[in-house]
Amino acid sequence: MMRAYENIQFTSENRKSPRSYYIPGGCSQYLLLNGEWKFAYFNRDIDVPEKIKQWDKINVPSCWQLYGYENPNYTNINYPYPCDPPYVPTDNPCGVYEREFELEKKWGKVYYLFEGVSSCAYLYINDTYVGFTQGSHLQAEFDITEYVKEGTNKVTVKVLKWCCGSYLEDQDFLRFNGIFRDTYILQRPFGHIEDVEIIPNKKNIHIVSEGACEVSIAFEGEVLVQTQMENEFTYEVENPVLWNAEKPALYDVVLKREGEELKFRIGLRTIEVSNQYELLINGMSVKLHGVNHHDTHQYNGWCQTDEELRKDLLLMKELNMNCVRTAHYPPTPKFMEMCDEIGLYVICETDIETHGFLRRLPNVEYHFDMDSNDWPASTLEWQGEHVERMERMVETFKNYASIIMWSTGNESGHGVNHVAMIRWTRNRDNSRLIHCEDASRKQQIHNADVYSRMYITFEELEKAAVTKDICMPVFLCEYSHAMGNGPGDVYEYNEIFDKYPKLIGGCIWEWTDHVVMVDGVAKYGGDFEGELTNDGNFCCDGLVFADRSFKAGTMEAKAAFQPIRTSCEDGVLSVYNRLDFTNLNEYDFTYWVEVDGVKGEEVTLNLDVAPHETVTLEIPYTETTCQYGVYLNTRLTKADKEYAQTQHELSYKVEETVSEASLTLTEDQYHIYASGEGFQYVFSKIYGGFTSMIVDGVEQLAGTSKFSMFRATTDNDAKMRPFWANVNIWQGENLDCAFTKVYECDICDDKILLKGSLAGISRKPVLLYDMEIRITVGGTVEIGFNGKIREDATWMPRLGMEFTLTEQASAFSYYGRGPWENYCDMSHCASIGAYESDVDSEYVNYVYPQEHGNHMNVKRLTLGKLEFQSEDGFECNVSKYTIDDLDRAKHTDELHPDGNVHVRIDYKVSGLGTASCGPDLPEKYRFSEKEVTYRFKIVNLHKE
Ligand code: GAL
Ligand code: MG
Repeated sequence: MMRAYENIQFTSENRKSPRSYYIPGGCSQYLLLNGEWKFAYFNRDIDVPEKIKQWDKINVPSCWQLYGYENPNYTNINYPYPCDPPYVPTDNPCGVYEREFELEKKWGKVYYLFEGVSSCAYLYINDTYVGFTQGSHLQAEFDITEYVKEGTNKVTVKVLKWCCGSYLEDQDFLRFNGIFRDTYILQRPFGHIEDVEIIPNKKNIHIVSEGACEVSIAFEGEVLVQTQMENEFTYEVENPVLWNAEKPALYDVVLKREGEELKFRIGLRTIEVSNQYELLINGMSVKLHGVNHHDTHQYNGWCQTDEELRKDLLLMKELNMNCVRTAHYPPTPKFMEMCDEIGLYVICETDIETHGFLRRLPNVEYHFDMDSNDWPASTLEWQGEHVERMERMVETFKNYASIIMWSTGNESGHGVNHVAMIRWTRNRDNSRLIHCEDASRKQQIHNADVYSRMYITFEELEKAAVTKDICMPVFLCEYSHAMGNGPGDVYEYNEIFDKYPKLIGGCIWEWTDHVVMVDGVAKYGGDFEGELTNDGNFCCDGLVFADRSFKAGTMEAKAAFQPIRTSCEDGVLSVYNRLDFTNLNEYDFTYWVEVDGVKGEEVTLNLDVAPHETVTLEIPYTETTCQYGVYLNTRLTKADKEYAQTQHELSYKVEETVSEASLTLTEDQYHIYASGEGFQYVFSKIYGGFTSMIVDGVEQLAGTSKFSMFRATTDNDAKMRPFWANVNIWQGENLDCAFTKVYECDICDDKILLKGSLAGISRKPVLLYDMEIRITVGGTVEIGFNGKIREDATWMPRLGMEFTLTEQASAFSYYGRGPWENYCDMSHCASIGAYESDVDSEYVNYVYPQEHGNHMNVKRLTLGKLEFQSEDGFECNVSKYTIDDLDRAKHTDELHPDGNVHVRIDYKVSGLGTASCGPDLPEKYRFSEKEVTYRFKIVNLHKE
């Protein structure tokens, strides 16, 4: 028996036609109903009684799953119920909300509004049914004039967990329900304005509304015009100040009628595509440095306050972003007001995703089988709802300058219903571009205005950039999957965007991790009782953590997007201004030279460089002799905030060091001994590592040093994990369960010569090596290593020597790349210099614990009384945790520091990539060498 809410032809009742968003002022009243409501939850909607006797309390806006009514559930593609449209589960939970509100006087028209309610709502005023709406993230307005009375009134909202519209809302997120955005009442004069459309271009503001009203336009407080208009009005602005994301100038437009005032802030700008398929904003070619934004909060689910949204947008600006895609539904209109004001280009996406149809059949490969005619996008009975969701978005948001593209939704296959949505949109608003990734995937690219792809490789991107088959801007609606440690490819994508006019940039997936904090621990799919299907931690894929704190990947994106690119040759520094509308003279540009990490004098300049222009500077520097290196550093700042930093190596000579004489070593059956003034070392001949290093009477080691090749796999390593780790009985090198074997170990000419191997359990050795160790009279240990990796082995996570040091090594200093962790494909965020750190600062609290804390190009690492040195540089890692411990833990509270300091002196560590959803790690970032030679020294810091 079909229920009313399963009828796809009946998706609203008495809901008003969509209109542009405004909160009317003047004589009109705005009554925000956020706050405490009565609430009653029922497992089945059929159990809701005529009269509810027992009420709980709930805060609005909220998600009821976070108030103890049901548990959260995270599912990405799979529907959390059978794929049997339009039917939803028979037992459909229902939350009933009720509260009172006061109308001081009964006058004019009264409206009830929802900005977001999931999945659908039945509205009652004073116990009388008013209407019905679905489309969770779209505004819904009801005329309740007839239902209200002067004085105290009652509003009751019945919200169902599911309805047929749920099939269109299969976005990759935690599934929540309730009134999750503002809900309010408007009381307005009879004969008020309904809709207002304001169409700007580079010089005109064109206003369309029904009937007569008074209009005024002002700029920065100065009234430019004030007049009466009838239906339409065009104002030609003298010396117009255009809107763009860098300089978001807004004009104030006020319409008045019947004592009511409607205020709009309008940006003058044009959006065009050049004949080279560039994206032109006000005629200027712009690259989109974007990110995908979901509304998500670590305690409140889908509810973000205005302040929280504003903070997100301001952080984006700090990170040099200029674009945001509202994935995968429209935000609250206030978000758009903020984007206009703060300056961000927006891809505004409507509330449609039907990804779960991919999984409606078992055992079928992942593809959008549109021929089946099962998909809502191609099923005519769903057409009304598709077009309506587009219409509701466009009508609500049409006046925002920030919106440069309308998007039909996400991952829904491509069918006639998209075509209908696009046709409707083109007719309604041809001032913006239309985005439909589904059309590009289906290779019906000309149905939309941009060729949009997600997670393609560098090669595919370059191919799209040059092929004559794609005659439109190329946009990556998603790239650089920011899950866990990463993204490792964001800089390179942006280098490619910059290379080709047709590539207009893209949006990183995604802004922040989606988690539910429980007792200080971030929880994700599978952590909640009763989840019938879940996708684990796949929603913890943010560029910033759930509390919006930064990780190295955040800084790498910032570097990829930064306003300048510099290069340095023969003492000449070139600075290119990547900004589109801002001269670099609005920033301070500073440079300085560092010799061995010691900072020289800072020179701060005001560089007069127009957008997309370059300036060159002579850098005064004469080649010096030093120990570690010489670097030219630059920084771009504005109002104490840093927006860019770059670094270039300058030429230098390395100080000659005199090598000390060798120490005479002694041995017994299993050990070799080395001792001198202030030090005593013991080397194990059977383990092939140091078991004790005492300096000034203090033991430095808490375990035996050893070679290892494993890392606690990252989210991006997931596909490699079965090849590296002991995940199943047949596939892996089992590096996580490795055995070291010493075949030979002798003293020869005062050196320790050793041959050994490393092998995963059940496997033939993956590594065969020779090691030569010389210890000097002063106690410096010189280690030389030659290794061969089995020819048929896959690429490896890393290779290096692990030392377990005592707690005294917790605080340390180094000369190398920092302060942020860095990997060969994520190193633009970190520059080479002298740093101090400690194990607590090195820890990065990825939701799913994993490899972190690497530093490249390290020439000196000083901890406790030991100093690791290398002229060529090594990669190092200092951690409270063993690789094993990190690898085993699935949540941050499952980590157990053992009190020691775990140090890796690595020959090489593979890059990070973004293979958790993106392409495989490019070969150049894989550690796939089969022959390895490396050397380093351990110097003791014995006090003379
Ligand atoms: C994309 C999708 C996003 C998200 C991402 C993986 O395919 O559009 O919504 O699921 O993959 O994190
Ligand atoms: Mg999806």
